[in-house]
Amino acid sequence: MNSQDSSQRGSWGSKIAFILAASGSAIGLGNIWRFPMEVSKNGGAVFVLIYVLAVALIGFPVMLAEVTIGRHTQKNPVGAFKHLKPNGPWKLIGYLGIITGIFILSFYSVVAGWAASYLVKTASGAFRGDLTKQISDSLFTEFTSNPSQVLLFFIVVLGITTFIVSKGIKGGIEKWTKVLMPLLFILLIFLAVRAITLPGASEGISYYLKPDFSKLNSTVILFAVGQAFFSLSLGMGTMITYGSYISKSDNLVSDAGWVSFSDTLIAIFAGLIIFPTLFAFQGSPGEVQGEGLVFQVFSLIFAKIPGGYIFGVLFFTLLLVAAITSTISLLEVPVAYLIDERRWSRKKAAMLMGLCAFILGIPSALSTGAVKFFTEIGFLGKMNFYFGNIALAAGALLICIFLAYVWRVKNALKEIAIGCSRFRLKPLWAFSMMFLSPIAIIIILYFIKTIR
Ligand code: TRP
Repeated sequence: MNSQDSSQRGSWGSKIAFILAASGSAIGLGNIWRFPMEVSKNGGAVFVLIYVLAVALIGFPVMLAEVTIGRHTQKNPVGAFKHLKPNGPWKLIGYLGIITGIFILSFYSVVAGWAASYLVKTASGAFRGDLTKQISDSLFTEFTSNPSQVLLFFIVVLGITTFIVSKGIKGGIEKWTKVLMPLLFILLIFLAVRAITLPGASEGISYYLKPDFSKLNSTVILFAVGQAFFSLSLGMGTMITYGSYISKSDNLVSDAGWVSFSDTLIAIFAGLIIFPTLFAFQGSPGEVQGEGLVFQVFSLIFAKIPGGYIFGVLFFTLLLVAAITSTISLLEVPVAYLIDERRWSRKKAAMLMGLCAFILGIPSALSTGAVKFFTEIGFLGKMNFYFGNIALAAGALLICIFLAYVWRVKNALKEIAIGCSRFRLKPLWAFSMMFLSPIAIIIILYFIKTIR
């Protein structure tokens, strides 16, 4: 087996390790920062409903496609497509993924840096006592428009990520996820209970869970599908790369199922904290729809609950860890490529790619008030839209087309059958790969052009 040949590559240490590491990749700012923000921009509960459908009908099938390609080829995305189809342009899908990954890493690390700074702020007692919505908002703006602060935390996050990736996949990722993800989940449940029992929370709950179908339109669908790819770490080869470290005895269907399920659950709980709290404090989802939503709202809830200090510190610690297990997975894709295809050392690859992400991330870091030019463009938001929605959707589309029409569903099914004797959703999955997912994504990409 290839992965054993090359000591640089490494593989998962145990059977459940893939689920842990892939959930670590999937669960992150996408669930807790991006999901509630998209909900508030796209009509509330109706977005949530479409999102869940998008995960089930498109997200999960694409995840299964990626891990199947990964395990079959035991390679990074470029190597994987090259292996399955040596001639023709298909390996470009891999390159697209690598480029997308570095761009996502660049702005993602900026937001992860905000989480780091909120950890420090919370720990130093900034959010105790009579915090109001206004104060909480202005604390956020004050911080994000301070260039040296934002850059400092951005560098810290990228530095930690680069360090862990340079140490290799096994020791690096598994350890973190094993304990901390379940802990994050428990904390979220606890906070959700607190949030929905706040006075005035009920309107927030119905905003979040009772769909208003008059708000349904193509934009909502577009962003829901984009969010599904982003949150599940799909469309750029992360799951191909992680899948390449899965052992042949693993059941790919249940692996992909568990990762999709736990990721969705975490996102749903995050919203169940944010919206009731938001409504309890200001009566509507009103003005706050921007990138600060989660930071502003969570600091409020910690100011109001007994033991809020401890919970706040714990929450931002876990959010930061969740973010870093995701940045690791973003960096791992280009690094795996450089190790496999270019014979670079892991350390050199990690350092150089980390540096690229840093340079690319500077405009994003300075676009929330620090530098007027970038702020006016809304640089971070633009990166989030173009790479977090469009590039991922395009990547996922190409992966579906490749699997269904070049590699062929029957060959993929052979790989899936190793470790999974009965794949009950087989026809549904084949249908999604061949028709539903590609057609849906093509329609969506078409509409993106017309709305922007
Ligand atoms: N899914 C992660 C999150 O929700 C972010 C992420 C990690 C990602 N790797 C990815 C997104 C690959 C797209 C592609 O926080």
